[in-house]
Amino acid sequence: MSRPLLIAPSILAADFARLGEEVRAIDAAGADWIHIDVMDGHFVPNISFGLPVIDSIRQATKKTFDVHLMIAPADRYLEAFARAGADVLTVHAEAGMHLDRSLQAIRAMGKKAGVALNPATPVSVLQHVLDRLDLILVMTVNPGFGGQAFIPAMLEKIAEVRDMVRGRNIDIEVDGGITAANAADVARAGANVLVAGSAVFRAPDYAAEIRAIRTAASSLAI
Ligand code: DX5
Ligand code: ZN
Repeated sequence: MSRPLLIAPSILAADFARLGEEVRAIDAAGADWIHIDVMDGHFVPNISFGLPVIDSIRQATKKTFDVHLMIAPADRYLEAFARAGADVLTVHAEAGMHLDRSLQAIRAMGKKAGVALNPATPVSVLQHVLDRLDLILVMTVNPGFGGQAFIPAMLEKIAEVRDMVRGRNIDIEVDGGITAANAADVARAGANVLVAGSAVFRAPDYAAEIRAIRTAASSLAI
């Protein structure tokens, strides 16, 4: 099943002093989703922001809030993130003991359920939860920081995920080190949701950068 190509700028790379403005700016610049990275300083070695921040930027845009939870445990906070305005809620496969239960809880609130895989985590952990999934996030860096280099070995993994979900209504998202220069590679491997933090927010013109990533990802000629 071919899924629409979506560009999801990560606000981790935004100017936090002007976060509402930054969210409005990427909305106007053509972002499809807003990628929101929540880090707890425990599951990942960095702390970003949490519920009140998401709640307060919810009025800045109507676009899909794609919330990437890098927190452990995640289950006890799922309802609060749904209330704060998440549309897609992604938990890490490595973050809890009961992935199947977490995914059921997300869908029971009417939200889209995603699972993220660290670079070293095999795709096979998803084999028995595919019926509960709306999105698979293949981390293309080790989670915790923006601005890291894309790990090329993840291209093979993206293709493996694509083969696993073939025929299902599941988005394949990539996150970490995505730029206009590697967008074609990840799209060709099977990704249809491209997260980009520094690439977008360090660009002088957000709209031009989002367009460049989109154009590169759409030009799949080998
Ligand atoms: C990393 C985060 C990413 C990050 C991507 O842990 O999940 O979403 O913001 O940033 P870039 O695009 O700069 O690698
Ligand atoms: Zn992320």
